[in-house]
Amino acid sequence: MTLTCTWLGHSAMAFNVDGNHFVCDPFITDNPKAPIKADQVEAQLILLSHGHFDHLGDTVAIAKRTGATVSSNFEICSWVQRQGVENIHPCNIGGSGDFSFVRVKWTAAVHSSSMPDGTYGGEPSGMLLSVQGKTIYYAGDTGLFSDMSLIGEEGIDIAFLPIGDTFTMGLADSIRAIKMLHPKVVIPMHYNTWPPIEQDTTVWSALVRSKTEATPLVIDPGVVTDLLAALA
Ligand code: NI
Ligand code: MN
Repeated sequence: MTLTCTWLGHSAMAFNVDGNHFVCDPFITDNPKAPIKADQVEAQLILLSHGHFDHLGDTVAIAKRTGATVSSNFEICSWVQRQGVENIHPCNIGGSGDFSFVRVKWTAAVHSSSMPDGTYGGEPSGMLLSVQGKTIYYAGDTGLFSDMSLIGEEGIDIAFLPIGDTFTMGLADSIRAIKMLHPKVVIPMHYNTWPPIEQDTTVWSALVRSKTEATPLVIDPGVVTDLLAALA
């Protein structure tokens, strides 16, 4: 049984589940931290938190090349379909999508969402991923919100949280988020892509260790991380 993730920089996360591949927010081509090219991304499923360019990224090209299904809210799925993507699976907040190797429940996020051409992108979201018997929370872009305590009731094994500040939560609010979410392991994202979201993960890790029960796991772009081992 395998469950790995590879950070592609920013909020782009590539997962491998027993040889099945899915990716969240595959922003690659214009991402200065991306360790691979967009045409190297393997995906049967692409999950999108919201429509901003730094999350939508290379979705259309990857989906056309691989035939991957794109799942997101109704507005984003309709938009990518108009760009020629064949396989879409629209959902919305509170609803779930069942894929053969991962189940996705869409959660709220406090942010904005528009497509690169200015089209309305629906409401931004996060995701609860049920995979290999584990529950993973991928927050997308969000500020702190008190309903994270409801999400925490799901029993989270791993949380991927933005920590970059400026456009999302920063370090201090990520600590408050962890206290509501109670993940066993927390992995930071959406930082150090550009100067406005620079963060010191040594400082962040020390805060997580001293103020929460969670274990911080800072990963480097391109390194395959065994999530089951991280939870063992
Ligand atoms: Ni955004
Ligand atoms: Mn963003």
